[in-house]
Amino acid sequence: MSQEVADIIKELEGLVPELVSRLERISSQDEIESLRIDILGRKGKLATAMAMLGKVPAKDKPLLGKLGNKVKEELHTIFERAVEEQEERREEEYIRSFDPTLPPRYRYHGSLHLITSTINKITTIFKDLGYAVISGPEVETEYYNFEALNIPKHHPARDMQDTFFLRDGVVLRTHTSPVQVRTMQNHTPPLAAIVPGKVYRKDSDNTHTPMFHQIEGFVVDKGINFSHLRGTIMHLLQKLFGEHVIVRFRPSFFPFTEPSAEVDISCFGCSAGDKEPCRICGGSRWIEVLGCGMIAPEVFRSVEYDTEVYSGFAFGIGVERIAMLLHRISDLRLFYENDMRFLTQFASIEE
Ligand code: DAH
Repeated sequence: MSQEVADIIKELEGLVPELVSRLERISSQDEIESLRIDILGRKGKLATAMAMLGKVPAKDKPLLGKLGNKVKEELHTIFERAVEEQEERREEEYIRSFDPTLPPRYRYHGSLHLITSTINKITTIFKDLGYAVISGPEVETEYYNFEALNIPKHHPARDMQDTFFLRDGVVLRTHTSPVQVRTMQNHTPPLAAIVPGKVYRKDSDNTHTPMFHQIEGFVVDKGINFSHLRGTIMHLLQKLFGEHVIVRFRPSFFPFTEPSAEVDISCFGCSAGDKEPCRICGGSRWIEVLGCGMIAPEVFRSVEYDTEVYSGFAFGIGVERIAMLLHRISDLRLFYENDMRFLTQFASIEE
């Protein structure tokens, strides 16, 4: 055998061990590819060794050709396996780096503001009782905001409601009660309606914001009496705070109702043995939730209803206060700071 043939055989036989040892030292897909080009490429080591075949005697060619093909096949097989292994390794690495205990990335698609969902909750309770849901203007005349509700000029009750005056005779409504009068003016009894909406007062601290929300409610018909009012309020509070809520009607004064009452629920934040005064009720054991009463004859007279024929009740609920009690929120201003960390906590609360 000529030296040349021996060299080619040596070269060809060396390719497989060379590939195996070089593969051991590399890992990336790119490196495997450049190794493939180096060995199996058009100008690679295999092709170079095979090109030398041209110079050997014809009798040696079959042997060398066979060897060349065998080596080529082996090299291909090794490469295929290397690429497969590489892919398996990558998959394993991905699985290892994948942490199934991580929280999913939810897409945040917005939600109702807690004030809106609280209004919806209360509104639904009344809709189920057959009440209409109506609204009225936020820029209101002094007549509807005060006079027609039996709060005459210079009456101390006007000072109680720190009013924003716009121009002469026009104010930002300080409560939703004026809508009672507007509705009665345009409709004849029987009436049962609630009025959710924004109201405005010149006041700002932990428990007051210059804008807040109220829900006014009223019923007018023949034969309406205080027990209807009481039954309605009990129903509302049981729906909101649970069947076992303890409710107290406390005599009070509003110019537009007679008799009037403020309604308290028993405090759920404190118990008999507490040493510190409770932060929710201040130690009184009761939490005020709304004002109400039988609609005063003066109000009926302002809309020319016959007080001998009709009677009715009315109530006013502070929405923020109810939301704070339902969710144990201690600072009213949180509602209006638009801090998503606060707002999103109530994102799943339905209407
Ligand atoms: N309008 C009152 C206020 O804003 C709340 C209120 C109390 C409304 C008693 C009523 C009522 O209808 O009967 O302070």
